[in-house]
Amino acid sequence: MKQEQLVELAKEYGTPLYIYDGNIILQRYKELFNFIKWPKLEIFYAMKANYNIGILRLLKDADAKVDIVSPAEAILCLEIGFSPENLLFTANNITEKEMHEVHKLGLLFNIGSLSRLEKYGKAFPGSKVCIRFNPDVVAGSHVNIQTGGNITKFGILMQDVQEVKKIIQSYNLTVVGLHEHTGSGIAETEKVYQSMTNLLSIAKAENFPDLEFIDFGGGLKVPYHPDERRIDYLKFGEIISEIFSDFCKNYGKKLVLRFEPGKYIVTESGYLIVQVNTFKNNRGRLIVGTNSGFPQLIRPSFYNAYHHIANLTNPDGEMQKYDICGNICETGDVFASQRDLPEVRIGDYLVLENAGAYCYSMGGIYNLRAMPSEVLFYKGKAHLIRKQLTNEELVKQILQDSS
Ligand code: LLP
Repeated sequence: MKQEQLVELAKEYGTPLYIYDGNIILQRYKELFNFIKWPKLEIFYAMKANYNIGILRLLKDADAKVDIVSPAEAILCLEIGFSPENLLFTANNITEKEMHEVHKLGLLFNIGSLSRLEKYGKAFPGSKVCIRFNPDVVAGSHVNIQTGGNITKFGILMQDVQEVKKIIQSYNLTVVGLHEHTGSGIAETEKVYQSMTNLLSIAKAENFPDLEFIDFGGGLKVPYHPDERRIDYLKFGEIISEIFSDFCKNYGKKLVLRFEPGKYIVTESGYLIVQVNTFKNNRGRLIVGTNSGFPQLIRPSFYNAYHHIANLTNPDGEMQKYDICGNICETGDVFASQRDLPEVRIGDYLVLENAGAYCYSMGGIYNLRAMPSEVLFYKGKAHLIRKQLTNEELVKQILQDSS
């Protein structure tokens, strides 16, 4: 979006403010079908990245399906009109209660541990399931978001395939899908191909004769830093289709190929606009105070993630190094350290870019500051898709929840 548009919306709705560009979301979703030309491709949006219903509705209208990880995510999607067949529930350390709750809603389960598979089989013999394996490849832009390999809690080890088969047989389950997710923000496409090849090596008809789909998870990376190059997803799509086509020939059936990206679809659509209210020169170190903080955008503090920042209201100022901080009572409340920016003045609007994925959705109200409003800009119009609570509303909610 143009800088002037962002400033206009910031003035209209107040800051801090999340803005999402609906055109980018749809473009990213749709272009995946041009990149990966497998005729039976299905894209499940990982709604953990951003669960705003304005965004979910936009994607629903574009026929997207959804990767679900909690009962509330399932209920929300059903509430806004997704049908259960278009949702896959990836169960991660769920309780018995949650298992029954989601089963009642009619979602297919993606199960990633032998103990849960056993419990699921006992509770619902004769059901269909998807099995999540650990692809045994370590990849992802930060250690906290690498999902494969020995040290993570996710997926069943591929060496345990015989154990899986035993449980499947005992409870007469039908395995209709296999799944893996290697990590988030994977820069090395070879690692994705390796994960695919690993999973496909056990996806044989003699192990799983009833497969309808294979789901290779999310993790598709987009550039966050201006110097980062965009991955050639056209080439990626070609290689993936080739791997999958060879597999299907051996398997004897053209299966559905699934991915479940979160970041790829929404990251670049999002902006967090903050306003500068304080300025310090600590013996030459320039410290800028803004009206947001890490509970509203935690990725820099939590993953040391880079979010590009621009000074919307003084783009031509003299470049200097700044620490861009928030309004939270913690030293680590820093969006960027020693960042080169055009002169930052009190009152300037700054934008943190690529704030569409895992920003609002990972937010909280630490220090009792309500999460910002969210605006969806689509077809030339701004829609307020979630309103910030006033301080009074926030306190009322706390009092209500605690009484
Ligand atoms: N599928 C599964 C099973 C997942 O666990 C995830 C993400 C995805 C799909 C979507 O991954 P994506 O395409 O968005 O990379 N909060 C972190 C990212 C956590 C990812 C968790 N799982 C961040 O801000 O970088």
